[in-house]
Parts: sequence; C-alpha cells; structure tokens
Amino acid sequence: MAILNIVTQEDEVLRKKCRLVDKITPRTLTLLDDMYETMQAANGVGLAAPQVGILRRIVVIDIGEGLIELINPEIVATEGEQTGEEGCLSVPDEVGIVTRPNIVTVKATDRNGEPFTIRGEGLLARAFCHEIDHLDGVLYIDKAERMLTPEEMEEDEE
Ligand code: NI
Repeated sequence: MAILNIVTQEDEVLRKKCRLVDKITPRTLTLLDDMYETMQAANGVGLAAPQVGILRRIVVIDIGEGLIELINPEIVATEGEQTGEEGCLSVPDEVGIVTRPNIVTVKATDRNGEPFTIRGEGLLARAFCHEIDHLDGVLYIDKAERMLTPEEMEEDEE
C-alpha cells in the first residue's frame, strides 16, 4: 500500500466530473487500498478518488465504525435535514456550516463487483453526501452557509 498525495482546492482536478468504473481491475483494488491508507494517515473520515488525482467514481469512508468502500455510488433516497460542521482534507484548516439530509441511502458496487445498498444517518449521511459531491466536482465550500472564523476554530479545539 502507499500513501497518496491529497490535492487541495486550487487544483482543477477537484472540479471535474468523474467517470464511472466500468471494470474492477487489480488497479482499482490497489487504489481502494491506497485511498484507505491515505485517509487514515490524514485522520480523515472520507476520501474521494479525485482528491488523489484520479477521475473515477470511487470513495472510501470510515467514521470510526469500519471501512466503507463505494464504487459508482448513487444517492437513491434522502430523509430529513441536519445542519452542522463539515471539513475536507482538500480544504485544510477550514470548517464550514453545511445543511445536509439526515438520512441518506446509497446504492453502490463493492470491490467484488457486487451491488449493495447502505443507509447512513447523521455523520455517515453527511459523509456520503460530501464524498459523492466530490465525484461531480462539487466541494462543501460551494454549499456552506458560512465558514467558521479563526476564533470559532480555536474554540472547537479546546
Ligand atoms: Ni472532501
């Protein structure tokens, strides 16, 4: 496995639409493994392939409840609303306030090529929305009501 370079918001690769994965190859599996290692090393809860410069519809998420790998994920249902803090490994040292659905159902393919459906609530629902947005070139800063001030960021750390 390898730790990959995470690009930051100035990089235009983050603004492109990712292509579907039409065939899962050994390279796909290596990418999934490397993305997971990269996310862990960066203390993130989610990482999308364009953040490591790959324009494919691949996401890894771990909110502390185990690894979720999503290939070609699609949001198929949402419920409710939550407003809260959100950050991104590609927007370092910033936090914004974003409104997202509170429950999100995602359809995706796993590393064996099997389709599955997963439902997430709260932070997991937020992570699904955030990471799937990355696949369409959307960053949370586009949707944030506002960004936290440096003073608020300090309070968060205390
Ligand atoms: Ni992000």
